[in-house]
Amino acid sequence: MSLKTSTTKHISQGAFRTRRVDLADLPEWTSWPARLLGLQQAPACERTIEKIDREYDKDKYARCLEYARGVAREELSPEKVREFEQDAGNKLICAARGSELIATPGQMAMKRYEKILVKAMRATIREVSVIIELGCGYGYHLWTLSRQFPGKRFIGGDYSENAVRLAALLFEARPNIKVSRLNLYSPQYELLEELGGFGPLLIYTVHAVEQLRSATPLLNALSPYRNRIRAVFHFEPANELHGSSLLGLLRRRYAEVNDYNRDLVSRLRERTDISIVQLQKHVFGANPLDPISVIQWKFRKR
Ligand SMILES: C[S@@+](CC[C@H](N)C(=O)[O-])C[C@H]1O[C@@H](n2cnc3c(N)ncnc32)[C@H](O)[C@@H]1O
Repeated sequence: MSLKTSTTKHISQGAFRTRRVDLADLPEWTSWPARLLGLQQAPACERTIEKIDREYDKDKYARCLEYARGVAREELSPEKVREFEQDAGNKLICAARGSELIATPGQMAMKRYEKILVKAMRATIREVSVIIELGCGYGYHLWTLSRQFPGKRFIGGDYSENAVRLAALLFEARPNIKVSRLNLYSPQYELLEELGGFGPLLIYTVHAVEQLRSATPLLNALSPYRNRIRAVFHFEPANELHGSSLLGLLRRRYAEVNDYNRDLVSRLRERTDISIVQLQKHVFGANPLDPISVIQWKFRKR
């Protein structure tokens, strides 16, 4: 998920005001409607691990790492890297709140994710000692949460070696945040093994299950830790909930063309060992065709 998929409009300082955007005007903001309708070319995409390596490790996070290495140590912060990564800042973007499209400054949209994460997880975070983000990139969300919940341990895992290197640079003075390598397709997650008997655990993902062709490997890999996992939260697009409105159809096609995950909700619903605690659809999307839903679940007691 990147703000760069949207056409942005520059705005002057102080002129920030969120306003509604008509669906009919969406093509003014992004070329995706034209691509989805076959009027412009959309590169074919197969979301293999090689594609993840190219898109994230060798491109996005390699550039972020190079940028971070060029910033004076005393001026370097996860926020600064995020601004570089998203290139949103002081620009208007077309975002989505539920089925409503809005024009909002990019920076405000980024802050919105922070608020959604904290609101959904606050009560559970207070009950656990370790908070884990799977597919965390360089750990931006772990860092924002760690500022609000000091005294907790924050662990992250990501496929990208460059993201892990960047996290080591950003959090070298913060022993309570650690990011290591993880492949979500692995049958066993080393970072959970390394915790030994530590718990209880809160596990969450943000736009990371989206990268998996199926959610099954992740659900299977978490299963051995079922007794220590207090809750799992996904802040992820939920394809099965998009529905059949024009916007819903565009969102479904967007997920298909990008080969994003389309089975998270179905896989959760069909598992008898899992109970879905909450499911709030299409809470927010900095990309209006790829909004996150908030899904909370837990393993049933045996
Ligand atoms: C859209 S980014 C989201 C990163 C982070 N959660 C955030 O919100 O800033 C998707 C992330 O998933 C990671 N990812 C994709 N496939 C993965 C896999 N199989 N195992 C681990 N991480 C993966 C990518 O490297 C990337 O960091």
